[in-house]
Amino acid sequence: MVKQLEDLKWDDDEFHGIGFGNEMSGTVIKMQSPTEKRMSFLLEKANSGKGDSDRHLLTLFSVAASSHSRRILELGVRNGDTTLPLLMAAKINNGVLDSVDLNETSYKAPEDLKSYWQFYKSDAIKFLENSVAAGMKYDLIYLDDWHEYSHVKKELELIDQIVTPSSIILVHDLMYSTNNSPYYHIDITLPKENQWGQGGPARAVQELNPQFWEFSTLPYNNGLTLLRKKYSSKY
Ligand SMILES: C[S@@+](CC[C@H](N)C(=O)[O-])C[C@H]1O[C@@H](n2cnc3c(N)ncnc32)[C@H](O)[C@@H]1O
Repeated sequence: MVKQLEDLKWDDDEFHGIGFGNEMSGTVIKMQSPTEKRMSFLLEKANSGKGDSDRHLLTLFSVAASSHSRRILELGVRNGDTTLPLLMAAKINNGVLDSVDLNETSYKAPEDLKSYWQFYKSDAIKFLENSVAAGMKYDLIYLDDWHEYSHVKKELELIDQIVTPSSIILVHDLMYSTNNSPYYHIDITLPKENQWGQGGPARAVQELNPQFWEFSTLPYNNGLTLLRKKYSSKY
């Protein structure tokens, strides 16, 4: 029988490879490091998560970690569900995650991840304009804030200026709602005030010039689009 210690806090020090058994009781207690616990959590979410981005959390971690991204930007934080996997990767890559949301977040970074995270309470477009002005370049951008078409279109115009062909842009919700996957959700009759107004993020991404951009979408959990700028000569 293997038990996991439930009371190991995620911000405790790492306990690599420590385990001990009690032969008398036949019980083996296996202690997991915070990283192992977090990985189990992401795997569980990929398997059976019901949240609107749960099945993408492991992908976010995987793409951020394996691309060795050091400058990571998250637009749209809410409760930090997507912040955790990006932050885990930022630590592994010895990088920094900038997270931006119009509203305050309830998310509190665990102690060992805190120094890799910066939260900005800001409108995403304002933040991007400042990033362009500062000559910033990001290795990975996760785009998941306000989903109305003209908002996302403007964001993509700005993002164009702060990425290179080596950068990866992940855009959530192009197939928003279970009724739409595996099809893109574009409703141009919805008004500008609507979160999915004027065709939403799917229209904004599909209007990008395919000569300069390429993308493909994981067709589940509202869609996760992998977008890349092919050339950098313009900037
Ligand atoms: C769908 S939630 C994303 C949450 C997170 N990525 C996740 O999957 O759990 C969208 C977030 O975007 C934020 N938001 C809405 N409009 C925004 C804007 N103009 N600029 C920045 N954030 C905005 C909302 O406050 C909300 O937290």
